[in-house]
Amino acid sequence: MKMGKIGVFDSGYGGLTILGQLRRRLPRYDYAYLGDNARAPYGTRSFDVVYEFTLQAVKRLIDMDCPLIILACNTASAKALRTIQQTFIANERPDCRVLGVIRPTAEVVGTLSHNHHIGVLATEGTIRSESYDLEIHKLWPDAVVTGLAAPMWVSLVENGEYDRPGADFFVRDSLQQLLALDPVIDTIILGCTHYPLLLHKIKKFVPPHIRLVPQGEYVAAALDDYLKRHTDLDARLSTGSTCEFFTTESPTRFREQAALFLDNERLRVGERSSGIHIDVQRIQL
Ligand code: DGL
Repeated sequence: MKMGKIGVFDSGYGGLTILGQLRRRLPRYDYAYLGDNARAPYGTRSFDVVYEFTLQAVKRLIDMDCPLIILACNTASAKALRTIQQTFIANERPDCRVLGVIRPTAEVVGTLSHNHHIGVLATEGTIRSESYDLEIHKLWPDAVVTGLAAPMWVSLVENGEYDRPGADFFVRDSLQQLLALDPVIDTIILGCTHYPLLLHKIKKFVPPHIRLVPQGEYVAAALDDYLKRHTDLDARLSTGSTCEFFTTESPTRFREQAALFLDNERLRVGERSSGIHIDVQRIQL
């Protein structure tokens, strides 16, 4: 395979919070971001459908010469990653790699929590898959993991409502439900890549001793480490610092939303707004 980009996939805009952190930590690589906005949200879809859609996206990114793909979507990581790795990649494209966002988060969370009472907020699909419980328990067997689906949160973000006062009700409601299930939780994983956009509201309703864990920086650190250990793959990644965007929906809407997501991510980590040029193409999967 020729030199290629790092492909970053999400059902919609949420993966942009991961892309922002990847580009911050690993700025030299070229990236191709694909949002399946026409079919988002994935969170309420069945295992088979999420698998089928995610496989289509992975194949498309490989066709665009991405030898490495990050599923920047917890729902796709929970429901499709393992099967894609064990079937399509193993049998048809052993020269390519697909990685997810759940394992890097599980690896770090035990070091962030003091009492190992960990809350997970995610989509219904991710919670039902029990992927976080399984991954966290492999590494931190004593952890008490309490998951709750916050189905409205993705809609608030996808529809640009995340800054409006009306979002407060849904944010507070899910947090109260989670803390009622385990009142001694000291760490909450934001197990959906859309949720960092709601961070300013989440902070209003969570006691200050509770640590909130958005995933981007941990996924970026894990990828950095992975590429240092997989030098053959690293050598096949092109390093022009570019980023292309692809959506299955309207490029105009994607451009507007992506600018907000990427700026929000920069402001969250204390940087100035970038005025990044967003070149978006519409594709069909
Ligand atoms: N951003 C996705 C995640 O991390 C899912 C949102 C959705 O499509 O429901 O799970």
